[in-house]
Amino acid sequence: MKKVLVVGGGGIGRKHIDGLIRTGKFQVSVCELDSEKLMALKKDYPLEATFSDFFSTDISRFDAVLIATPANLHIQMAKKCCIESVPFLVEKPLSVTLDGVDELIDIAEKSKILCGVAYTRRSVPSFRKFKEIAQSGIAGEIKMANFYCAQDYRKYRPDYEKIYFSKKSMGGGVLRDFITHFVDLAQWILGKPKTGFCISENLVFGDSVETDDSAVVIGKFSEKIVSFYCNGFQKPNELIIDLAGTKGNLKYVLLTRHLSRVLFAYDDSGRWEQLAEFQNEGSDYYLFQAQHLLRMLEGLPHDFTTLKEAAENLEFITKLNSR
Ligand SMILES: NC(=O)c1ccc[n+]([C@@H]2O[C@H](COP(=O)([O-])OP(=O)(O)OC[C@H]3O[C@@H](n4cnc5c(N)ncnc54)[C@H](O)[C@@H]3O)[C@@H](O)[C@H]2O)c1
Repeated sequence: MKKVLVVGGGGIGRKHIDGLIRTGKFQVSVCELDSEKLMALKKDYPLEATFSDFFSTDISRFDAVLIATPANLHIQMAKKCCIESVPFLVEKPLSVTLDGVDELIDIAEKSKILCGVAYTRRSVPSFRKFKEIAQSGIAGEIKMANFYCAQDYRKYRPDYEKIYFSKKSMGGGVLRDFITHFVDLAQWILGKPKTGFCISENLVFGDSVETDDSAVVIGKFSEKIVSFYCNGFQKPNELIIDLAGTKGNLKYVLLTRHLSRVLFAYDDSGRWEQLAEFQNEGSDYYLFQAQHLLRMLEGLPHDFTTLKEAAENLEFITKLNSR
């Protein structure tokens, strides 16, 4: 059994705890400032130990730390893991600004610590298959892509006005939080993000949040042109990714939380061939990620976003408006 400390027992920390325990391969401890949340977690899960303040916790007894606190805390917490030589997985985005990012990458490289940034979809079979198919050459060379991703965030996080999502300084909003997932996928499948432009607005959520709920971004990834259309208010939960190649188009469609398909069309007949179908992944995202973490800790090849890739993602997002 690997001993893992989950730092932050909020919305996503709870999902990680659940996924880690479901593997049957992790003994889970939790560090959470809020004593009520900690009590509830202790009631719901067989936790090995609990702590309140991460910065005064001795982490040397753990095989890994999973940082699931708001993004403004990620750099300091990841640095502590590097200094104390404990492998870590840190939630996305890597941070809110570029301050301290280069220093963290430098310390992590020098200490050769095993680490990654937890962009979830890199661990999920349907997205892994989509990448494999895109890179197989079936659609020729991919030249353009569109990521259409939108949902009613308020339904999934009724506490959205009280958490990091409502604050710019904590990395909230559709642009700084949600879109970075798809920037990560574009980077993974198509190449490094370069220049980009953006329009983002608070169209629906109103004064209770200082962040945006809607954004359109266009950017260059390697030499490809990529667009992102995202909002956090619409009623249907949709994700459609289109890749346009020189020999045809590939499409990833999330039909429901439990059904997704990869489709291919090589002419204008209107026929889309189904290349793959995935069912019931929705409830296992964090199980897949925990299994992926185990691979990393066992020294096996893994696909977690590197600190450098996550820094490129953050730089792309933070410099969008100034270009
Ligand atoms: N992968 C995904 O799909 C996904 C989804 C949601 C959130 N996230 C990311 O996860 C991170 C956390 O988001 P969340 O929704 O769980 O937020 P949250 O506010 O629900 O939970 C964060 C928790 O961290 C705790 N915390 C803060 N400082 C701490 C400290 N010093 N020591 C211990 N605990 C501390 C808070 O008390 C809080 O309970 C963010 O970076 C967010 O972007 C990822």
